[in-house]
Amino acid sequence: MSRSRRAEALDRSGAFIRKLIEFAALLLGVAATRADAPPAFEQLRWTAPGSELALLSEQPATCLAADDDALVRSGRALFGAPTLLGGQAAKAGLSCASCHINGRGNPHFLLAGVSAAPGTADVTNSFFSAARGNGRFDPVTIPDLAMPGKVARGTDTRALEAFVRNLIVEEFGGQEPTPAMLDALATYVRAVRACPGEPSVGRRLDDQLSAIDDGVAGTRLMIDRGDPQGARLAIAAMRHQLGLIAERYTGPRLAREREGLLAASRALQAIGEDNTARIGPALARWKSDFDTGLAKRLRRAEARSLYDANRLAESLRQFAPSAIMLRRSTHSVRGAAFRGAPGAAPFQ
Ligand code: HEC
Repeated sequence: MSRSRRAEALDRSGAFIRKLIEFAALLLGVAATRADAPPAFEQLRWTAPGSELALLSEQPATCLAADDDALVRSGRALFGAPTLLGGQAAKAGLSCASCHINGRGNPHFLLAGVSAAPGTADVTNSFFSAARGNGRFDPVTIPDLAMPGKVARGTDTRALEAFVRNLIVEEFGGQEPTPAMLDALATYVRAVRACPGEPSVGRRLDDQLSAIDDGVAGTRLMIDRGDPQGARLAIAAMRHQLGLIAERYTGPRLAREREGLLAASRALQAIGEDNTARIGPALARWKSDFDTGLAKRLRRAEARSLYDANRLAESLRQFAPSAIMLRRSTHSVRGAAFRGAPGAAPFQ
């Protein structure tokens, strides 16, 4: 073989190897986009094994007294905000609504160290507030707030406000709530009613979209009341709802929607960190952009998301082992595993 022919052959084999590498990269790339990451549903951290599908596809209905009342809506927004509760609960993504779904109970709730049987919790547990645990493990059934309970609901004594304040600060180690925040939360709790026939309703994108409306109402109300802490919490509540949507828009075909959700959440974060006087106008602009842009795209794609019960069931079947592993690690390592846990972190 002459020198030049050998060089030519080497060249050709070099080119062949380059092509091979390109082809392998292409295959890997395709594989990487095809294999969806398992969905990381925050709510499965505190859901009894076997109840995943039930929890993620259904919810108890609530018929609110005065559901267009700004105070009720604001309260509902704060009720779903994990950062209202401090410490471990907030890190886990747990809010009032995790235990009291739509202000009712949660028969599937199960968290090691906090629950005995599914549907029970010990809210005086040191898991939530290291300083205040009562040292006993005495979980009770999570009450349905639509039913009369131990705590008087009348507005005369304000026993409900005192109870909720105590829950937040003493039991969950949260920041002291402002009077406007307590007013909103108690007004919401007082408005929770069972619906005739007790229907169970499907979970829909609309749940999150109307929760975002609640957050806007809550932010406005708090600004009107001169309460920046409440306004920031209402914004955090909206970001959490965006995170709940993102959990359901999985896979390469919904990447654009996911990116939109992340961008919307970052924009909200910037609004919340801005001077209080600028929050109102900036939020109005954000909401109008959201309604005319992203919200419409999300609605169009809802049937392809995990709000679709069949797709959800399929995805849970496919990824069941990893969902179980996630739960094990959070249960055994407790708080440590909640830090850095996957899911809605960019949305909180
Ligand atoms: C970890 C689950 C959990 C979370 C989170 C939680 N609760 Fe509860 N809640 C319970 C349990 C369990 C009880 C019953 C406590 C008892 O009877 O001692 C309860 C009781 C109540 C009651 C009294 C009901 C009655 O008997 O009259 C109200 C009101 C209430 N919760 C509101 C809230 C609010 C507001 C939040 C958020 C700040 C919240 N809960 C967060 C589990 C939870």
